[in-house]
Amino acid sequence: MSVEGQTFTDLDVEGFLGAVHKLITEEAFVKGTNRGNPVFEFKQPEDLKTLIDFEIKANPSTHAAILDELTKIIKYSVKTGHPYFFNLLFSGLDPYSQAGSWVTDAVNSNMHTYETSPVFILMENYMFKKLTSIVGFDDGGGLFCPGGSASNQLALHIARFNRFPEIKKVGLYGLPRLRCYISEDGHYSLKKAGNYLGIGEENVVTILTDNSGRVLPGDLQQKVVADIEQGYIPMFVMATCGSTVLGSFDSLPELQDICRRYNMWLHCDACYGGGVLLSKQHRHLLYGIEGCDSVSWNFHKMSGLPHQCAALLVKNKAILLEANCSKAEYLFQADKFYDTNYDIGDKSIQCGRKVDVLKLWTLWKAIGDLGMENRINKAFEKARYMVDLLKKSPGFRPVLPEFQCVSVSFWYIPERYRGQEETPEWWLAIHKVAPEIKRRMVEAGTLMISYQPMSSKGFVNFFRIVLHNPACTQGDMKYIIEEIDRLGKDL
Ligand SMILES: Cc1ncc(COP(=O)(O)O)c(C=O)c1O
Repeated sequence: MSVEGQTFTDLDVEGFLGAVHKLITEEAFVKGTNRGNPVFEFKQPEDLKTLIDFEIKANPSTHAAILDELTKIIKYSVKTGHPYFFNLLFSGLDPYSQAGSWVTDAVNSNMHTYETSPVFILMENYMFKKLTSIVGFDDGGGLFCPGGSASNQLALHIARFNRFPEIKKVGLYGLPRLRCYISEDGHYSLKKAGNYLGIGEENVVTILTDNSGRVLPGDLQQKVVADIEQGYIPMFVMATCGSTVLGSFDSLPELQDICRRYNMWLHCDACYGGGVLLSKQHRHLLYGIEGCDSVSWNFHKMSGLPHQCAALLVKNKAILLEANCSKAEYLFQADKFYDTNYDIGDKSIQCGRKVDVLKLWTLWKAIGDLGMENRINKAFEKARYMVDLLKKSPGFRPVLPEFQCVSVSFWYIPERYRGQEETPEWWLAIHKVAPEIKRRMVEAGTLMISYQPMSSKGFVNFFRIVLHNPACTQGDMKYIIEEIDRLGKDL
């Protein structure tokens, strides 16, 4: 029993945490990544409610009971490090970044002041120097945010402050109507930002894309000019580099020209694609990145770190503090006994901020620049292999002739639909194939891949697999083909 007032020794902390450590290692790391085990055991919500004892009672639980629940929690959770998990833009389970995560929680720091977080503040400063130099910002800075959506939203907030600094004091009153622009295939977080920053969803204008999902600069130019004629102030463009579904990269130099012409902030959402900056072979995809004003880069996507590790990088280091500082006197006392430039918390809109740097630092320290680069190169090699495999496999059809990032999209055409005229009715039938195969794979627990339609391109439901899980091999990619064919043959 754990009872208030007991010390760690009374509670047998070594015994309890030792058992938890063993559980995590055996169930999540070893069994959870074993190809012979399911990716997960799906249960409908009503069934799952009966399997885990969610209820918190007045009396304490025994350690044995807690361990029992933790075992079930791992059992019924999706094993996102499993080599057959390709569902989303995150996957993988690696011991170094996990070690960083565990230590983070054990020391439970807070990124606001040096006195609370001395090591992590120095580490974060070091990491942002490294990241901004990789991007090419000479005197840049940054902040880890609670996710890439939050990074994009913060970018819009500081861009607006940059253009209208008075907003910090007087708010939106008296401001002209602002316009922001994003690719029609860009991430929905910007619409949300328009909503909660008081700009309005309608003022987040979508720009058309070409067949590969790259924004059309000509459409941006036309929309900006039309907006100016109508009295709006165009202010912010979000380029997408590694779009969520097709993985496309907008052309940054072309967008920069337009932004310069109309005095707009250029933010690059490289949440997904940012990893290419680590690779000499692939960084050309982000050509011109140093000309952007800010960049979002999620390490919990292509680099395979645990959630969350989302960096917002800015070209002008000072802007984060200027836009967000509030100088709370109970926390940021000016007469402290050390250099208060190390109290970095006021750069953020948060008060308490989780330490997200240690998991990144631990991994990077362990595998080095070369290891980080290798992860990215390997993911691209897998995407290449997968596209070639799809092209050779009867019934599989890539959505685009070439992949752009490390995800690959395709339709599966069941046998009875092959070789037929591709009428609207035919496509309607194909639209229903992916959801049914997904249901079957989830029930069998043998694979996890997402599907979606893409109305901007007129695409019916198709599968998208994301290939940056370091555990995934060529054999696993052959398995995807065989398993989808097995599950969907009779449709
Ligand atoms: C292109 C892009 N930007 C931003 C995000 C949001 O990132 P997060 O899930 O960390 O909020 C995503 C999420 O998948 C994304 O694909």
